[in-house]
Amino acid sequence: MDPKELPSNVRDDEISEETKKLISSLPSRIDYQGNKICKYQGCWYFYNTLQGVLNFQRGFQPQDTDIILASYPKSGTTWLKALTVALLERSKKHSSDDADHPLLYDNPHGIIPFLEIDVYSESSSPNLAKFSAPPRLFSTHMPLHTIHREALKHSPCKIVYVCRNVKDTLISCWFYSSAIYKIEPTRSVLESRFEEFCNGTNYFGPFWEHILSYWRGSLEDPNYVLFMRYEEMKAEPRDQIKRLAVFLGCPFTKQEEDSGSLDKILDLCSLRNLRSLEVNKTGQSINNVEHSFFFRKGEVGDSKNYLTPEMENKIDMIIQEKLQGCGLKF
Ligand code: A3P
Repeated sequence: MDPKELPSNVRDDEISEETKKLISSLPSRIDYQGNKICKYQGCWYFYNTLQGVLNFQRGFQPQDTDIILASYPKSGTTWLKALTVALLERSKKHSSDDADHPLLYDNPHGIIPFLEIDVYSESSSPNLAKFSAPPRLFSTHMPLHTIHREALKHSPCKIVYVCRNVKDTLISCWFYSSAIYKIEPTRSVLESRFEEFCNGTNYFGPFWEHILSYWRGSLEDPNYVLFMRYEEMKAEPRDQIKRLAVFLGCPFTKQEEDSGSLDKILDLCSLRNLRSLEVNKTGQSINNVEHSFFFRKGEVGDSKNYLTPEMENKIDMIIQEKLQGCGLKF
């Protein structure tokens, strides 16, 4: 496949001389697809993504009202983005049939871009005119220590993290990356992905460091980091969306609940509805990813259909070892 056809964050063609120099001092490797990847502040990045991370760390000026949606890739980011947009849109005037709702015209990733992959991919001082009206909504796959370290240290902005069962996340990554690379999701691809996942050497890995950074952040200051779980959102969507709304400072009124506004949002943001929208059937993200790739099955426990008992055991053992004593269970 011509590298130019890949999403730009996966490539290595937009890095500065300074970043090249930094990379030469970092642990680096070639991943299962032949892409260069390196470890910075404990997390693995493709080179162009690292450039975005560095640009972000240099240039991001937080505003107190900023909201950052964070996740490990394939953990429910698209859903969380859609729900957040829908919750905040309640305060705006829409036509009576909601025909002008932004979710009908853009994919959730177009409305809430990634800091390191979209906004800061090319420069540490991007044009942020699009975000002029507060709250500014951003997203990230960076671990908390990487966004927190320089940029957010003294900011009261809000962070929402969505965490998913790591086995389902792995399977979702396997299907998604196969779609991106236009390859068959074969067993041998799954096995390579599994090895990297378990070694913690995959893009944005290790998963345990990622999850722990936000878990600890949420324990330290629950007003700063809201820790959500994909499985809980599936099992009790009404309770979880109310929790999200309270955290974002826009709780549902009794009248809204009684009038069905909450259920309307859940329906608007359902996988079934989002994937059926024209913009998500045919469009592409700023980063050249087909919108349809973001919607697959959305099932809890789908990994059972693909992982062998040995693979499951290995992941269970890693979770037990790495998350021991932190209070987080899978
Ligand atoms: P599966 O591959 O298991 O189906 P992300 O949004 O972080 O990229 O995660 C993608 C996963 O979330 C995919 O999981 C996708 O199907 C699922 N997903 C996307 N939109 C969703 C929605 N509105 N509700 C529930 N799950 C959704």
